[in-house]
Amino acid sequence: MTNVMKTQVGIIGAGPAGLLLAHLLQISGIDSIVIDGKTREDIEGVVKAGIIENPAVEVLVESGVTTPEQLAGVRHDGVEFHFDGHTHRFDFKSLINRSVWLYPQHETLIDLIAARVRAGSEPLFEHLAEDILDADTDHPRIVGKTVSGEPFEIQAQMVVGADGSGSIARKAVNGSQFAGFFREYPFAWYGILCEAPPSSEELIYSRAEEGFVLISTRTDKIQRMYFQCDPELDASTVSDAEIWEKLQRGVTGTTLKQGPIFRKDVLRFRSFVAEHLNKGNVFLCGDAAHTVPPTGAKGMNLAFSDVLWLNEALREFFTTGSRALIEKYEENALNRIWKAEHFSYWMTSMLHVAPDATEFDKHRQLGELYMLTESEYGNKLIAEGYTGWAYGASWK
Ligand code: PHB
Repeated sequence: MTNVMKTQVGIIGAGPAGLLLAHLLQISGIDSIVIDGKTREDIEGVVKAGIIENPAVEVLVESGVTTPEQLAGVRHDGVEFHFDGHTHRFDFKSLINRSVWLYPQHETLIDLIAARVRAGSEPLFEHLAEDILDADTDHPRIVGKTVSGEPFEIQAQMVVGADGSGSIARKAVNGSQFAGFFREYPFAWYGILCEAPPSSEELIYSRAEEGFVLISTRTDKIQRMYFQCDPELDASTVSDAEIWEKLQRGVTGTTLKQGPIFRKDVLRFRSFVAEHLNKGNVFLCGDAAHTVPPTGAKGMNLAFSDVLWLNEALREFFTTGSRALIEKYEENALNRIWKAEHFSYWMTSMLHVAPDATEFDKHRQLGELYMLTESEYGNKLIAEGYTGWAYGASWK
């Protein structure tokens, strides 16, 4: 027997995008069901960080997801660029009076899930969406199975694919999972987690001779660092000594505080924007709609921008019956999506050394870094992009 449920908005994916959308819709009195193939423990237990931009912080705090206390102590008022033996600090506060927060993303998820539970609308975990049926009608259905094999169906007026880069919802909107615009990169990141105190108060993005290095942090005791590597590299083949050498060579004037490395992984990335973000009553948002390379940490912030546009469009539809903002969703969301796609691509190409880079390419790249860092306008451009452009839609 298929378990049939009914709701106004069926949301596939209990990640930051799907959960924030459900939260904001509920504030406007709109009912939704969020489903996810994973368990609640899996979603809440994977320790993840995210940089949240100034506008995203405002939404999370004002809509009651996060408290200012939770954000205390993780505010970053600048980042450093290291290149060609130079260090340069982009001072966000003095440049544009903004900041970012290096935030434990899993805590946002814990809070968002708690908000759903309080609203009496706990996400359905271990519910794996398989397809969206009747996608071109005004009563689309999400069909799937629970992990124990029981079929379910969610009958909704609107369906949202917030189901990440492996999105099944893309097919209903674009005819295939792959229709869209791609860019591959000839490098990846080798990432480590280690037990050590922070080496730097702020993030260091470095364009070193051998390529990119990033010094980031998780907590007072756990650090996250990356260096550029071949996407085919097997993470287990690199010794701890080699890792520390590569990382240390990447930074100027900072001695890295070393400690036991307890995780090593190779992260591949690419740029992608789906051809369309909406067809009829089915929508894509977050990583289902687009992915960016991690340089610049735009992913979650961009998901929130989509969610605000979508929330506004669905709120208008359910309160007035008008589809005007629904028709504008794709155009509205794509403006910021392509700006963030550009920013992430630009940060990536400016700070990585392509395997086939010529001497001309390398000198040009340093020219670009000097041009930017020596210019007041260049500094402001990076500060504005990094801390995030204002959201076009309001959550209220
Ligand atoms: C991270 O801490 O994992 C991180 C920080 C900044 C980035 C990307 C990743 O741009």
